[in-house]
Amino acid sequence: MEYRRILVTGGCGFIGSNFVRYMLSRHPELEIWNLDALTYAGNLENLKDLEGDPRHHFVRGDITDRATVEQVMGQGIDAVVNFAAESHVDRSIHDSTPFIRTNVLGTQVLLDAARKHGVRRFIQISTDEVYGSLGPTGYFTEETPLAPNSPYSASKAAADLLVRAYHHTFGFPAIITRCSNNYGPYQFPEKLIPLFIANALNDQPLPLYGDGLQVRDWIHVLDHCHAIDLVLQRGLPGEVYNVGGRCEKTNLEVTRTILQLLGKPESLIRFVEDRPGHDRRYAIDCSKIERELGWRPQVPFEEGLRETIRWYQEHQDWVDRVRSGEYRRYYELQYRDRLARASTEMPGSQPH
Ligand code: NAD
Ligand code: TYD
Repeated sequence: MEYRRILVTGGCGFIGSNFVRYMLSRHPELEIWNLDALTYAGNLENLKDLEGDPRHHFVRGDITDRATVEQVMGQGIDAVVNFAAESHVDRSIHDSTPFIRTNVLGTQVLLDAARKHGVRRFIQISTDEVYGSLGPTGYFTEETPLAPNSPYSASKAAADLLVRAYHHTFGFPAIITRCSNNYGPYQFPEKLIPLFIANALNDQPLPLYGDGLQVRDWIHVLDHCHAIDLVLQRGLPGEVYNVGGRCEKTNLEVTRTILQLLGKPESLIRFVEDRPGHDRRYAIDCSKIERELGWRPQVPFEEGLRETIRWYQEHQDWVDRVRSGEYRRYYELQYRDRLARASTEMPGSQPH
């Protein structure tokens, strides 16, 4: 590993915490500065096992705060991996303000400070959602035009364009990765898979949006971490790398598999009012990173899901803690009316 000191932003969230742990186990000589504001989605408990490890330096701070970012960047940081973001589409529909602030302004502040301090690599962790929605066939490639449909994906696309412009204008050594839907341990239970596992474990209803036939391409979080590690080491500045699991599933299929693995009845499924502007299908062509960096997704979905379910079963106390306070307010706002009007029958199928 060419880099000694890495700044990971958002390292207390789902993917960030998995990445910090992954990198320190793969690269024992590495030092990681973890800058995280600890929003509702960030939790220092996610890295409890690293307590006392001198290679992990946690700084509580906001990526939009220039003074804090400058101070951290001044620690001799060689490379930045930017995970910090507001990440949930449904929340962005209720209020996009924090999305623009963190995802757009925050990325700009990081880019400026990284440039000023001569950082040698900047990896922007983006999403396949910037490409918009697909019909029943076809894949997103790195050349697919950006066509974001939600406030969340629009804010991520805006950040991608800033990163692109800093490379083009200043020759700043930045790279963008665009990954599909992740699942695995430590995912906040507002996202489909952990929400449905947590609800099913408590015999609570599983609110499927619309007809449940929307398609996502699922990837285990550790396969994503491996891809980012390779991009950091061998990716080329100015490039975009798509990352996907080659694992397309409808939400209904995922839901049925979760219920089956937990031995719970399908009667827990509720078809609820759809998400406005809901993207119908995502599917990633990841042949570029496979060809150029030798990466492959390794974790088969059923096996990864089984392991993830076991993790949530063994960490019910973690789920109970993160599901308190702010989460309850959000759950009411998002689901109370939907569940009151829900149906156990699938509504007529919707067009792409
Ligand atoms: P997450 O919501 O679990 O974690 C986000 C983290 O960022 C939290 O720890 C939070 O405290 C921190 N954060 C938020 N605002 C901040 C700010 N202003 N300053 C500092 N820290 C702040 O998100 P995640 O699912 O781990 O996603 C991480 C990144 O990966 C995001 O950029 C997201 O867009 C991207 N991504 C996620 C997925 C997915 O399936 N989850 C897929 C592709 C890309
Ligand atoms: P999500 O985990 O929010 O990821 P994204 O919207 O970024 O792809 O949702 C995954 C899919 O699951 C998406 O098609 C929306 C759907 N979904 C539901 O049907 N019900 C729910 O309660 C949630 C949270 C998601």
